[in-house]
Amino acid sequence: MADAPSPRTLIFDCIGGSRRTQCLYVAARLELADRLKDKPQTAEQLATATGTHGPSLYRLLRALASIGIFAEDEQGRFHLTPAAEYLRRGVPGSLQGLAVMAGEEHYHSWGELLYSVQTGRTGFERVYGKPIFSYLAEHPREAQIFDDAMVSVHGPETATILDAYDLSSFGTLVDIGGGNGSVLIEALRRHPRLRGVLFDRPDVVERARPLLEKAVVADRCQTVGGNFFESVPAGGDAYLLRHIIHDWYDPECLTILGHVRRVIPPAGKLLVIEPVIPPGNGPFNGKFQDLTMLVVPGGKERTEAEYRALHAKAGFRLARIVPTRSEVSVIEGVPV
Ligand SMILES: C[S@@+](CC[C@H](N)C(=O)[O-])C[C@H]1O[C@@H](n2cnc3c(N)ncnc32)[C@H](O)[C@@H]1O
Repeated sequence: MADAPSPRTLIFDCIGGSRRTQCLYVAARLELADRLKDKPQTAEQLATATGTHGPSLYRLLRALASIGIFAEDEQGRFHLTPAAEYLRRGVPGSLQGLAVMAGEEHYHSWGELLYSVQTGRTGFERVYGKPIFSYLAEHPREAQIFDDAMVSVHGPETATILDAYDLSSFGTLVDIGGGNGSVLIEALRRHPRLRGVLFDRPDVVERARPLLEKAVVADRCQTVGGNFFESVPAGGDAYLLRHIIHDWYDPECLTILGHVRRVIPPAGKLLVIEPVIPPGNGPFNGKFQDLTMLVVPGGKERTEAEYRALHAKAGFRLARIVPTRSEVSVIEGVPV
């Protein structure tokens, strides 16, 4: 096993983290990995294709190659590496969308972390002047990148959730804030008798509809555009909220869950999918994701005790927490 870094090296490497975020961002934004998928190219060739400054682009590629992302050969041509493959668009497990979002809205919001820690307010609103979901509604390019990033971050969780939690007894699954429908698509594929309702903001479900059609599940899936602070669709016997509750503080969560509580049948199930922050000092990605929630939407990751309290206030009993192979759990609630 490699030796743990010295305490000073640990700090030194962490301090440089933002450099890597920006290098990956620029590579993803310029779609360098996609441009290299068929054949290796020199920095000059890539610069011509991307309208960038060749010598500077070379320095970016050289730095990334030094950490295993792209590799330069003796003719000065850059190749894809196994890591660089994940910067391609649309490949399984692609991190391209996440790299772009992390380098744009998230980067600028994280730049205001001190302000967020001092005030409890989001860095995002300080920089962009409005909450993130209002901003996305007005910026289609960024909204598409956000949807792609959600697939980058949450896509690999989908199979782990559906393996761990059996949906076969449900007739209709309503995915609240279901984004581009990736969870519903996979759930409907696995359960041929299941029907789905994808509920999200109107512009989001508009973009999702072709994806449902392409996945050949559209005939069993209704799309509903709306605002979960006003109402949610009735008719489900399971209501799934993946990475919705962590976007908000308790008052907003109680409004959303209150709408679910009003329409869920007595034997229905509330399925909140989030990482549950464990006690102790151990490493857990959710502890940093929690800070992203602080600076970007203005929400938080929660402990089991916090979920129990939130469920109780919203008229649910937290029945069980089903762990998955990924960091998220299925937090099952039943109406009381
Ligand atoms: C963090 S994303 C999660 C997306 C998806 N559930 C997933 O796991 O990838 C939050 C989602 O909530 C949706 N959303 C935000 N505000 C909303 C509102 N007021 N009404 C309905 N949906 C909303 C966003 O459009 C986005 O798709």
